Amino acid sequence: MSETDSTGQVIRYYSEADEASRLSSGWFQLEQARTRELILRHLPPAPATIIDAGGGAGVYACWLAARGYQVHLIDPVTKHVEQARAASAQQPGYPLASAEVGDARHLPHADGSSDAVLLLGPLYHLVGKEDRLACLREAHRVLRPGGFLWGAGISHFASLLDSLTHGFFDDPQFASILEGDLENGQHRNPTPNPLYFTDAYFHRPGELSREFLAAGFRVLEVLAIEGPGWLARDFDRLWKDPQQRERLLAAVRKVEREPSVLGASAHVMAIGQK
Ligand SMILES: C[S@@+](CC[C@H](N)C(=O)[O-])C[C@H]1O[C@@H](n2cnc3c(N)ncnc32)[C@H](O)[C@@H]1O
Repeated sequence: MSETDSTGQVIRYYSEADEASRLSSGWFQLEQARTRELILRHLPPAPATIIDAGGGAGVYACWLAARGYQVHLIDPVTKHVEQARAASAQQPGYPLASAEVGDARHLPHADGSSDAVLLLGPLYHLVGKEDRLACLREAHRVLRPGGFLWGAGISHFASLLDSLTHGFFDDPQFASILEGDLENGQHRNPTPNPLYFTDAYFHRPGELSREFLAAGFRVLEVLAIEGPGWLARDFDRLWKDPQQRERLLAAVRKVEREPSVLGASAHVMAIGQK
């Protein structure tokens, strides 16, 4: 798929999906809590410069800016950049350093200018390996030696687990989507149903780290973001109860590196160092 095609798909999909509120609902709250925790595990102390490429509506970028970091957000979706600027304006003491429309494959930043890069979106939206490698090489270029990269992938098995747990396994339209996912990780949604996401690539955990290595990174960790926690029956009830929420987070931490469990996570996080 060409660059323009893939960007067009992304823009069309997010014109309907509300990315600004996604992380505050259902099991995405677990995704957010765990992503924050995995970022903080290696992040150098503030002030440091972070590029959030594919930063969406700025949920992580604004959180990091509020902790004293200089955060630059890039996203191809104008609506997201406007939402990120509006969220930044709500924290006048700690605004984003910048929020611009752009593409993770062509960052506007100088070589070695950043302490950390987040790629929490582009690596699954880019369906071609060469595009993903271009994006990883750009992250490598803008990082200073020793700088860190966080890259999120969607699991190769996410559609299978999602459809079984959330009740659409028997939708005939989903059956052909699932076949493609399990065949080669190439997720295509020819239906108008936004719940079935948009064109994407679903990684096996080992593939994500091989792509990091191919772009010149040292792979520090490959971790389950949600582990099996996103599959919890009655997730909202568990999450609302502070004690059960802590138990759930502790259980996910306990299995975050377990190779036999990585593929059961909705997302996998690779952490690399230049
Ligand atoms: C599911 S959202 C995730 C947003 C945020 N990073 C998060 O983790 O919640 C995926 C984001 O990746 C962005 N994206 C897709 N392709 C991209 C590309 N080639 N370069 C930069 N961002 C891209 C989308 O516009 C979208 O904002």
